[in-house]
Amino acid sequence: MKEKTRENVYKAFIGEAKAYFRLLAYAEKADEEKVPQVALLFRAIAEAERVHATRQLNLVKDLLVKDTDTNLEKSFQREKSVSENEYPDFLKTAEEEGETAAALAFSHARDAEGYHAKLYERAMMNVIKDVVKAYHVCQVCGYVTDKKIPKACPVCGAPPEKFKTVEA
Ligand SMILES: [Fe+2]
Ligand SMILES: [Fe+2]
Repeated sequence: MKEKTRENVYKAFIGEAKAYFRLLAYAEKADEEKVPQVALLFRAIAEAERVHATRQLNLVKDLLVKDTDTNLEKSFQREKSVSENEYPDFLKTAEEEGETAAALAFSHARDAEGYHAKLYERAMMNVIKDVVKAYHVCQVCGYVTDKKIPKACPVCGAPPEKFKTVEA
């Protein structure tokens, strides 16, 4: 694909992916405001934007999606970088500005990303001893484990009912 078009496809993908989440937030707001018809419309268009995002991602797939070993390595590096660099920086600024909710979100994300990095690292080194059948994801902070659902999330303290299971 020619360079300019490729850049535009990538930009379009980012825009559509953001629109997907923004429209779902609009739908939630419309529900709160008791306008279910508008909420439904936002959800339907969100689904359509997801279709666009997926189609555009597929057009630049060869650039963004490599073989699984490479994808694991890249995902590991990215998690390591966000948990060691970006999130600590964001956290520092949020604390300096007294933005406590953002600070808590950043500190949870920083810690959860560290766990994600460990899971990737283990997969890369092929040292998964028992076959993993399911992972459990904290819906508050994004902590992920293949062990039993903890009584309290080690990152944010959330109870077991806040965990969502992703199965094979
Ligand atoms: Fe992550
Ligand atoms: Fe959590």
